[in-house]
Amino acid sequence: MPETSIIIAIDGYSSTGKSSFAKKIASAYGLLYLDSGALYRAVTLFAMENRFVQNGVLDISGMAPFLGDLNIHFQHNSVGQIQTYMGGRNIEADIRTMAVAANVSIVAVDPIVRNYVNGLLRSYGQKGGVIMDGRDIGTTVFPHAQLKLFMTADSMVRGQRRADELRAGGEQCDLQEVLQNLQERDYIDSHREVSPLAQAPDAIVLDNSHMTFQQQMEWIGGILKEKFGLEPLKR
Ligand code: DC
Repeated sequence: MPETSIIIAIDGYSSTGKSSFAKKIASAYGLLYLDSGALYRAVTLFAMENRFVQNGVLDISGMAPFLGDLNIHFQHNSVGQIQTYMGGRNIEADIRTMAVAANVSIVAVDPIVRNYVNGLLRSYGQKGGVIMDGRDIGTTVFPHAQLKLFMTADSMVRGQRRADELRAGGEQCDLQEVLQNLQERDYIDSHREVSPLAQAPDAIVLDNSHMTFQQQMEWIGGILKEKFGLEPLKR
């Protein structure tokens, strides 16, 4: 059981390092980490594999009846990394590909899909002690979160980070293509009608273009201690 019932919402642009940051905070402070992007990616994978998304068009009426049975959940592997599952299948690697990234904004724009994902997030988060990352956590999913962060960084820095990540996962990629995908996703995410990517008025902005991971951890450590009296777990 987490020692605090705090809800922390981290929103921001693609590839600003939200999930690595949120995961580290979760393990340091004993919180449950929920990756909302992974849920959208999982639904996208399902849509692609079952041809509910083709040529940039989502057949939501065809897919909607299946959503309740997808059974998307998170589980730690033997080395403590969080893995995304759909049914009994580990889909962690499959949801991180460029092919999924190219379709995810088309799927995530749909209100039925958003409603489904938000329901999952709220049920996981209802007891608190959670940190979630996404695009609309602080504005829509948990507007009463006690701490909201909005992460941003130069697009060139983000593109390079994303390309490094893809290459580390064994995928060939071209920096220009990665940059273009990031910019397209930023645009679609920020301009969609239903819960667009937006900074909550009470969010604290973190621009990490020129910060190391360690500096970001020190920064958040200061905020958690000062505002909430939280200290990292002793191990
Ligand atoms: O964080 P990510 O890159 O894994 O997210 C994948 C996509 O999911 C992103 O392009 C937009 C969408 N998304 C969203 O619309 N709302 C969220 N709360 C999280 C992600």
